[in-house]
Amino acid sequence: MRFLPDRKKYTVAIIGLGHVGSCVSLILADRGHEVIGVDTDAALVGELRGGVCRFHEPGLAELLERCHRLPSVRFTADHAEMSAADVVIVAVGTPVDESGAFIDTQLRGACKELSRHLRRGQLLIFKSTVPPGTTRELVIPLLESGGLSCGEDFGVVFSPERLSQGTALRELAELPVVVGGSDRDAAEAAEEFWRTALGVGVRSCASLETAEMIKIASNWWIDHNLALANELALVCSQAGVDMLDVVAATNDLPKGGGRVNILLPSVGVGGSCLTKDPWMAWSSARRRGVELRTVPTARAVNDGMPGYAASLVLDALRGAGKDPGGARVAVLGLAFKNDTGDLRATPVAPMVRALREAGVRVALHDPLVSPEAAEQVFGSPSVPDVEEAVRDADCIAVTAWHREFHGIDFAELRRYTRPDCAVLDGRAYFPRETIERLGSLGYTYLGIGR
Ligand SMILES: NC(=O)c1ccc[n+]([C@@H]2O[C@H](COP(=O)([O-])OP(=O)(O)OC[C@H]3O[C@@H](n4cnc5c(N)ncnc54)[C@H](O)[C@@H]3O)[C@@H](O)[C@H]2O)c1
Repeated sequence: MRFLPDRKKYTVAIIGLGHVGSCVSLILADRGHEVIGVDTDAALVGELRGGVCRFHEPGLAELLERCHRLPSVRFTADHAEMSAADVVIVAVGTPVDESGAFIDTQLRGACKELSRHLRRGQLLIFKSTVPPGTTRELVIPLLESGGLSCGEDFGVVFSPERLSQGTALRELAELPVVVGGSDRDAAEAAEEFWRTALGVGVRSCASLETAEMIKIASNWWIDHNLALANELALVCSQAGVDMLDVVAATNDLPKGGGRVNILLPSVGVGGSCLTKDPWMAWSSARRRGVELRTVPTARAVNDGMPGYAASLVLDALRGAGKDPGGARVAVLGLAFKNDTGDLRATPVAPMVRALREAGVRVALHDPLVSPEAAEQVFGSPSVPDVEEAVRDADCIAVTAWHREFHGIDFAELRRYTRPDCAVLDGRAYFPRETIERLGSLGYTYLGIGR
């Protein structure tokens, strides 16, 4: 059966308007497709309708401003509206529980709604990260519970989302899309959809399970790579070697017909994907009788980094003859990475906890995070500007280097800080000249693996 109408502009329903769904909806709307965005969160739907963007993603607020009043764009909490779509994209949340097991509530909920409103000829594209086997074993039976049949009446494809927060819109417009279908017709329709709708390349896979495994493998690899980078950083700092020199040279040298690609160490690994997708691999492997030993090891290494970053600060305070009990640390950047306001599993939270446990008074600042959101995660609100945060600081911990911070004048901040102030470079990767300049301004530089 042909699952895509023969035209260049489609009607697309997006189920789940979180970070991923909002970006996907708006980029499709901006390309002239008719968009029906559906989310169970009525407050989120209301915000999107009003042109209010709750996600800090470069370019997204401007895109929403441009698109939210278009007659071809509507946001709704009513799943029935998806019946009008040629293509339905599902991007609901797929978290894991404490034991690493997949929590399928959102996916089940979405599939049940879809089964009620599906119509013949629709193409369903699932983007949410899931344990391999989920689309065939859970999603398709739920969809078919409404009476229509996968393959005969509708097509199902797994097309994992691969964007990174902070560069999401550029990546959606450029990165090739992975496609694995329930059958060849569905896969071909999705390939054509991505090529036409976004103009991106397509990586066609043998099966739904292959596409599911590609997503898991990719984040499993990133988490392991980061664990390697973080452990390498621990060794480099003891060996008096700048980790960044090692990474730059190692990555630049041809090796075995390709290149290695060591990522960079930091205050820790956070966000909603890297902290859970490796566990998804681990728990789904376990169900198949395979014990993955590398996953818990890499997770433990990465989870150890916030404590390590806190220990760098505490050692520097003590080294300067200061009692952590009376010390102040300004934390600049609360989000889990640069250029996002996302606090999900941010490693800055355990770092702050460790500092507070040692008696340190912490001032928080992040231009991409509201004071209320900071209070929910950190137990105290953030302050609105850098100067207030660094007032009387014994250490400035730079834990996310957002674009908004690039103009920070450390010479000017010296007027506010205490003498012997340290600067923790948790994710800024300051070049050597900046480190020298910080030294000449009287700061003690603390780097991760530097
Ligand atoms: N955030 C990222 O950078 C990223 C990158 C790649 C892949 N992913 C994957 O993409 C998926 C979505 O991630 P996210 O960060 O956008 O999640 P999110 O939690 O921000 O958004 C999920 C949205 O789905 C909505 N929802 C839940 N059940 C629903 C239902 N039945 N019908 C309609 N809406 C429903 C929620 O209200 C929420 O707004 C996850 O599987 C994630 O692992 C995320």
